[in-house]
Amino acid sequence: MSILVTGGAGYIGSHTVLCLLESGFDVIVLDNLVNSSQESILRVEKLTGKSVTFYIGDIADQVQLDVIFKDHAIDCVIHFAALKAVGESTKQPYLYYKNNVLGTLSLLEAMQKRKVFDFIFSSSATVYGEENEPPYIETQPLGNPTSPYGTTKLTVEKIMQEAAKAYSQMRMVSLRYFNPIGAHSSGEIGEDPTGPPNNLVPYLTQVAAGKRASLQVFGNDYSTKDGTCERDYLHVEDLAEGHVAALQWLKANRLFSGFETFNLGTGKPVSVSQIISHFEAVSGIKIAHEFVSRRDGDLATFWANCEKANKILKWQAKRSLENMLASAWEWQRKNPDGFSSK
Ligand code: NAD
Ligand code: WQD
Repeated sequence: MSILVTGGAGYIGSHTVLCLLESGFDVIVLDNLVNSSQESILRVEKLTGKSVTFYIGDIADQVQLDVIFKDHAIDCVIHFAALKAVGESTKQPYLYYKNNVLGTLSLLEAMQKRKVFDFIFSSSATVYGEENEPPYIETQPLGNPTSPYGTTKLTVEKIMQEAAKAYSQMRMVSLRYFNPIGAHSSGEIGEDPTGPPNNLVPYLTQVAAGKRASLQVFGNDYSTKDGTCERDYLHVEDLAEGHVAALQWLKANRLFSGFETFNLGTGKPVSVSQIISHFEAVSGIKIAHEFVSRRDGDLATFWANCEKANKILKWQAKRSLENMLASAWEWQRKNPDGFSSK
């Protein structure tokens, strides 16, 4: 069975490609390398002893997409390719709508032309917006995301929902990720942000490595257990397995058509201060940090209700917070300069 993985060279994509190969799928990756390096795929090939067909290109390029769909009998598309920097999206909304929304439309049209019906999309907890109370559950009406990035995810979900109604053969799954962190147990692939990291754990591991002086904790006056924000952090390997579970579910349910959404998280809120103390415990390194004012757009607390994915996809996040943080540290330690490390 051949799977096209867009954005497969990126953080979550590369872990999923590895998991797909280990589960016996053939994998074709399309990535324009705007936020990744082909080295991730080379490492995945080395770790699995299997090869990946790799295309450098953009999901907006209909000509290249058509060649890919013509040359390979693709059973399902797993669509990771997107820009994901929340702050950048508020400064460059056109870029985000163009890349994430128009890019996805281009991909869906190319699939339609070549009669590929199975589609798994990388969505985000951000689609629940600020109106909903946690734990977020798939039956809640969606809210207003706090950034243009978030609105691109909500918009693509709407497009999927409407496409599934209009084109009755479409089999569409949207996976709403909570906060993926950590790295592969080998320490060979992981998150490799360009420039100063926007997200908590990559920033923290760079402080631990001495690359950055101190971690700024955005707000300690929230109404949470210790005043810092809470999130539902899940191991990227668990998340990768969630994609394989969704694919297996589509395979096993040939009669399914339409649009389904699933939350992928652990169902447990963890605060920024807890992340720091657990990281210090697993690494033995003290993290210099200071409490600063709140970051615009941050919600105090949210976490997932994952019963739907547990029950239907037979998927559950298994790995502990210690494992998530230890693996993030191992990746940083072994690869001080990410994929450019020798
Ligand atoms: P990433 O930046 O590491 O991976 C995205 C990949 O897509 C990169 O390799 C990039 O080069 C590629 N890409 C971007 N635009 C492209 C285009 N137009 N054509 C071809 N390739 C393109 O990000 P990630 O963390 O692995 O995220 C993967 C997906 O999951 C994204 O859709 C993201 O929005 C979503 N997501 C991520 C998180 C998170 O916290 N990391 C949470 C929720 C959802
Ligand atoms: C986690 C917590 C910060 C950095 C983002 C996107 C979301 C999804 C996942 C892609 C928050 C705090 C952070 C720092 C800090 N992305 N923090 N100091 O914002 O929950 O989610 O990534 O789809 O859409 O919004 O993740 O890792 O940035 O922040 O105190 O230097 O850590 O305030 O409470 P976030 P994050």
